[in-house]
Amino acid sequence: MANTVLVGAQWGDEGKGKVTDLIARDYDFVVRYQGGNNAGHTVIHGGTKLALHLMPSGVMYPNATPVIGNGVVIDPGVLVKEMAMLQAEGISCENLKISCDAHIIMPYHKDLDGADEKRLGENQIGTTKRGIGPCYQDKAGRKGIRVQDLMDERIFRLKLKTALSQKNLILEKVYGLHTYSVEEICEEYLPYAKILRPYMAETTQLLNDALREGKSILFEGAQGTLLDIDHGTYPFVTSSPCCAGGAATGTGVGPKAINRVLGIQKAYVTRVGAGPFPTEQRFPEDGGSGEEAEIGEKLCAVGHEFGVTTGRKRRCGWFDAVIGRYAVDVNGLTDVALTKLDVLSSFDTIKVCVAYECDGKRYDYFPMQQSVLFHAKPIYEELPGWKGEDITECRSFEELPANAQAYVKHLEDICNVRISFVSVGPDRDQTIVRDWYREED
Ligand code: GDP
Ligand code: IMO
Ligand code: MG
Repeated sequence: MANTVLVGAQWGDEGKGKVTDLIARDYDFVVRYQGGNNAGHTVIHGGTKLALHLMPSGVMYPNATPVIGNGVVIDPGVLVKEMAMLQAEGISCENLKISCDAHIIMPYHKDLDGADEKRLGENQIGTTKRGIGPCYQDKAGRKGIRVQDLMDERIFRLKLKTALSQKNLILEKVYGLHTYSVEEICEEYLPYAKILRPYMAETTQLLNDALREGKSILFEGAQGTLLDIDHGTYPFVTSSPCCAGGAATGTGVGPKAINRVLGIQKAYVTRVGAGPFPTEQRFPEDGGSGEEAEIGEKLCAVGHEFGVTTGRKRRCGWFDAVIGRYAVDVNGLTDVALTKLDVLSSFDTIKVCVAYECDGKRYDYFPMQQSVLFHAKPIYEELPGWKGEDITECRSFEELPANAQAYVKHLEDICNVRISFVSVGPDRDQTIVRDWYREED
């Protein structure tokens, strides 16, 4: 199998969990390379819907070793709970490998995440409040505590004491919040250390040895291209490199090892949290009315667009080819998996944004200035739908109604990328795999 990066091509929640779960059986390793438990990846196991936040979605297959790479930030309590949940479902986590270089989310990171959002007021980002940003800040600021520090109580206590000498001041003096003692954090975290110790591993060496032996790796991205710290709609982004490039830095595997980059795109677009979203069909509570609000509500209701991590209603809008082309470029996408095409089956016609207009200027490319994106008016094409035809049972491209086929082909044309998977329902088998994808392996 080609070593593959699977990456969200929009603002997250594109269906990465489903597609990872679908293809993971063909890989020897499935590796998370960035983000933390801000991610919520849904997989369906024996008819039960499971939400994974930290565990790579390949955990369902015993042949695929799940790895949490150095680029991930880990909340150990969440990981321990997730492992217990999976074990209760009869899914073994025995093979899990956790990088010793991954950073640990501490209780104060979560407090600071919430407090900073409160401080921002109406300018807030709408984070998941899982402590992701503050943990990555400490990593970049060289103040972080890593998985390997959990291996030695003396070092852990020492690092914690140093960290708290700064964090307690910020918590108390800036935000008026509760401070922490070394002892109270140790009481919570040392038992986690004991549970996780058997899974801690030299993952960079493990993956590079695997490559030398001709084994295959699937890198499972979290969040999405437009949430990437560098390439996303900054500052309305997460704090990690979600794009395909992050797979190399977040695992210690060189970029030449990556043969394929599979972008996951929804057949429309959603976004959770604040920030620009040109094709948004606003809900009434966000200022939308008439047809706009109706379309937004319909996409949300039919697509069950509610966050897996926070339960928030996801903002919804039409497919945007400007961000589609941008995602192709910044990730070097070789293929796309188009998800949730079935959700569009209830529309008479379907709009697709091909470019933006702002202050009389047309933008075919992702605009350089955020303010342009905020004020961009989408230029739409309207395509005929396939209303009333149930596509959830289609298993080959030819079985799709002609207008659905035309929609998929049109997206390929305007985004300059081939669509190798078409997903027509949440289940693993509700997927059309295009001929060339199988033939190439
Ligand atoms: P992720 O974060 O990218 O893994 O995506 P999420 O799991 O947060 O959200 C995707 C949602 O869409 C989940 O509830 C999936 O079960 C569901 N889903 C995935 N693919 C399809 C599809 O083709 N059709 C429908 N109707 N639902 C899908
Ligand atoms: P998956 O992997 C959708 C969003 C948050 C917020 C911004 C920053 O399931 O696609 P953070 O807590 O990361 O500092 O929040 O990023 N966000 C996501 N949106 N899907 C996700 O993950 C997300 N992870 C973070 O809503 O706008
Ligand atoms: Mg999600």
